[in-house]
Amino acid sequence: MSTSLPPLDVHPNSVGLGAEIRGIDLRELTDESFNQVYSAWLDHSVLLFRGQQLTDEQLISFSRRFGELDLAPIQENGRRFVDGFPELYIVSNVIENGEAIGSLGSGEAVWHTDMSYLPEPPKASILYALEIPPSGGNTEFMDMFGLYESLPAQLKERLRGLRIKHDGTYNSGGYVRHGVTATDDPRTSPGTFHPLVCKHPETGRPGLYLGRRRNAYIEGLELAASEALLDEIWSYTNQKQLAWHNVWKVGDLVLWDNRSTMHRRDSFDAGHRRVMHRTQIKGQTPPSA
Ligand code: OGA
Ligand code: MN
Repeated sequence: MSTSLPPLDVHPNSVGLGAEIRGIDLRELTDESFNQVYSAWLDHSVLLFRGQQLTDEQLISFSRRFGELDLAPIQENGRRFVDGFPELYIVSNVIENGEAIGSLGSGEAVWHTDMSYLPEPPKASILYALEIPPSGGNTEFMDMFGLYESLPAQLKERLRGLRIKHDGTYNSGGYVRHGVTATDDPRTSPGTFHPLVCKHPETGRPGLYLGRRRNAYIEGLELAASEALLDEIWSYTNQKQLAWHNVWKVGDLVLWDNRSTMHRRDSFDAGHRRVMHRTQIKGQTPPSA
């Protein structure tokens, strides 16, 4: 007789994006439970697990269950990798011995999708909270399926077949990426073109794929026309019912789908420490919808 697994304890957020999964210790996840987590992730795009106690090795081995990992991007100060953990990206404002231990400082991080300036951006990112300031530094996510669906039919029609450049100059904290010359001309800035409307490789749902607003450029248009169309599209990102934010607690782990969401972070008081460890799971070239 086969024993069936109890259903996963899934608590969807009140908006149509994100869910908290309760009662799970990510250090000891069976294959069956992992499959349930994976399908909940496809359903909700963002999953929150509270009260986790993971070493870096455990964070990396949980992340590897989703697929091969991408190496972490180079830090703003040129530091390549955390010693011994090339997959680990540190997001932090902490300065030790005069050197930032991570990226993004304490300012706002604007709306973005991770590493979409690459030809094959990561499909998922996992962010784990080690130290959290008393307030601020919340991370907000937006449902890019819902955003696409919310557009007027005429605008959707105009977007069909277009490609958008995802800028490789600036990161979401506004810092120039290591080794890149700052430029504010989106026609010549480094980056990668992707379809503006992408099909989710696993569910087939269409979603907007915007990356970042800064230095974005729509292929084949005059600069002014590209800017106007981008501003028009971005004006729809102001819809509260498409967004959810996490007020972090130490031990929170948030897993998100970079193919169906974008995210941003509020600023926080630079006098407080915030330390997050992130991994990123390899993805594929985003397919056109
Ligand atoms: C990231 C990111 C925001 C935050 O790790 O990709 O954008 O809340 N982090 O630290
Ligand atoms: Mn990010």
